Amino acid sequence: MKLLAINGSPRKKMNTGSLLEKIVKGAMSKGAEGELAHLADLTFKGCISCFRCKDPLGRSYGRCAVRDELTPLLRKAHEADVLVLGSPFYFSMETASMRACMERLCFQYLLYTTKKPPLSPRKKAAALVYTMNVREEDMAAYGKDVVVARSKGLMERFFAPCEVLLCCDTKQVKDYSRYEFDFFDVPAKLKRHEEVFPKELELAYALGARLVS
Ligand SMILES: Cc1cc2nc3c(=O)[nH]c(=O)nc-3n(C[C@H](O)[C@H](O)[C@H](O)COP(=O)(O)O)c2cc1C
Repeated sequence: MKLLAINGSPRKKMNTGSLLEKIVKGAMSKGAEGELAHLADLTFKGCISCFRCKDPLGRSYGRCAVRDELTPLLRKAHEADVLVLGSPFYFSMETASMRACMERLCFQYLLYTTKKPPLSPRKKAAALVYTMNVREEDMAAYGKDVVVARSKGLMERFFAPCEVLLCCDTKQVKDYSRYEFDFFDVPAKLKRHEEVFPKELELAYALGARLVS
């Protein structure tokens, strides 16, 4: 049993990365193999719409034909039993690198025919992790609930029932005193980070264990 987690944040050890790390540890606590990959380490493009993944006579049918540093990760994602994607919200979307990864990951499996199911390997489970500045009650006002629902739908269409872990009102920087940050209630944010974020890390650990169980 292998769980692969992919981090779409450029920061490996901050909110998203920390939650994903816990998910991997939770999976490993149940005897599963776990791996955390950071898109920030890779140089790659999004889908180039070459359509080679849709040519039934070609060598790349059902697999992305682009060759770059994402290629080995797409192979690992294909083979993993459990797939977890994590991203901060950037202007109410996944980060550009996570979007590019999702394009390549999902489009290779999509067929424009009703006669066959998608070419994706079914997985045991899947999950999405989102971190963001806004509070949970304000997510809908910024359309984030729609993005989460859409990406959950994508994961379920291609892979497996998908759980979602949301981490809102995150601590964005280590030292708020260096920046102009009056848009947010910084003391409240820091308090939340002290009191609530550790509980979210525990939830992430439990999620990792559950996903492979
Ligand atoms: C370019 C950029 C755009 C952002 N846009 C949003 C946004 O639209 N909504 C939001 O709630 N937070 C936004 N944020 C804040 C991040 O989503 C939040 O701090 C997140 O937890 C950062 O994840 P990380 O610590 O793993 O890097 C943005 C941050 C950056 C750098």
